[in-house]
Amino acid sequence: VATTLQPAVVGATGYAGFELTQVLLRHPSAKKPWLFGREESSAPKQDLADLYPELQGESLPIRQFDWNEVAKADVLFLATPHELSKELVPQAKERGLRVVDLSGAWRLRDHALRAPYKLDYSSADDSLQASVVYGIPELHSDELRTAKLVANAGCYATSIILALAPWTKAGIIDLEHGVICDSKSGVSGAGKAPTSRTHFVEVAEDFSAYSVFGHRHTGEIVEQLGIPADSVQFTPHLLPIPRGILSTIYVRFQEKQDAAALEKLLRDFYANAPWVRIFGAQKLPQIKFCLRTNYCDIGFSLSPDGRRAVLVSCLDNLVKGAAGQAVQNMNLMFGLNEREGLQ
Ligand SMILES: NC(=O)c1ccc[n+]([C@@H]2O[C@H](COP(=O)([O-])OP(=O)(O)OC[C@H]3O[C@@H](n4cnc5c(N)ncnc54)[C@H](OP(=O)(O)O)[C@@H]3O)[C@@H](O)[C@H]2O)c1
Repeated sequence: VATTLQPAVVGATGYAGFELTQVLLRHPSAKKPWLFGREESSAPKQDLADLYPELQGESLPIRQFDWNEVAKADVLFLATPHELSKELVPQAKERGLRVVDLSGAWRLRDHALRAPYKLDYSSADDSLQASVVYGIPELHSDELRTAKLVANAGCYATSIILALAPWTKAGIIDLEHGVICDSKSGVSGAGKAPTSRTHFVEVAEDFSAYSVFGHRHTGEIVEQLGIPADSVQFTPHLLPIPRGILSTIYVRFQEKQDAAALEKLLRDFYANAPWVRIFGAQKLPQIKFCLRTNYCDIGFSLSPDGRRAVLVSCLDNLVKGAAGQAVQNMNLMFGLNEREGLQ
């Protein structure tokens, strides 16, 4: 068990990587992270503190990406686009590095579910994929303790999977009728570069749905919950706020349910999970309760006939949905307390 880890981060200038760097700077068992930028020698020399004045006084030079230097770290975090993580993860494995990849490139095993990423996977990639652990500590803590490669779970996917896992695993949901997962996210989920969809003028005072029947996180929900693809209807929406996710999840039960028993299933499932808070029946979480924390908050309401429920699950997309969960995974990988360095 290592007690002082040297982390390296690629992508610290992006939203998820910046959040991650801040979490690592506070982590009692981590040294100051080494930051690596692009490989091109023409890339400008920068210090993260110059880009993000929140870090005034810190010296955080962003070095040119070089495997000889990166490979000296104890753990490599990739907060990079899917296409780049797709290439870097096998190269890190060759060098024996332990990796937490925040992208979606290595989260899925099923070829059909991976299709929305439009990445090419070889048969060698399939065998590598078999060794990658899906990074939700609440579901895979044993595998994470020995994992070399971790695919940090998607932000929407984390909010939905954590809410649904206790009841799907108890076998009480009527999957014939399907599960409706209606999620809303703040705009930082789309990364730092504004597009014609995410530009302030487009988003402010508006609310819109997108990627209906085609969002990449659908595959994670299907694969991790082990439920048929056609029983999940996931629609993400863009909220005019910087960060935070609220998922409203509509389920039907096979048999009449009792609110206390449903709540007990949630509480028992997460009895040893420090980063999931159960709000219980009738007390619903809100985005502001979990902002800038690593909590995923879950509550629900049961219909008067006991046959239907609405789950509400909230998290901060940049913390439990990205950087915080990545550090929670790191903690398990290195035998540290799951809570360490997180708030
Ligand atoms: N935003 C979220 O809420 C969230 C949540 C969960 C997971 N993720 C995942 O985390 C990853 C990063 O997301 P983000 O939202 O932080 O994106 P972002 O704000 O666009 O940042 C992307 C980062 O990748 C770097 N990068 C791009 N191409 C590179 C290259 N060729 N070599 C080295 N670095 C390169 C960028 O550096 P430059 O500054 O040089 O461009 C930047 O630091 C994505 O895979 C995303 O899906 C994001």
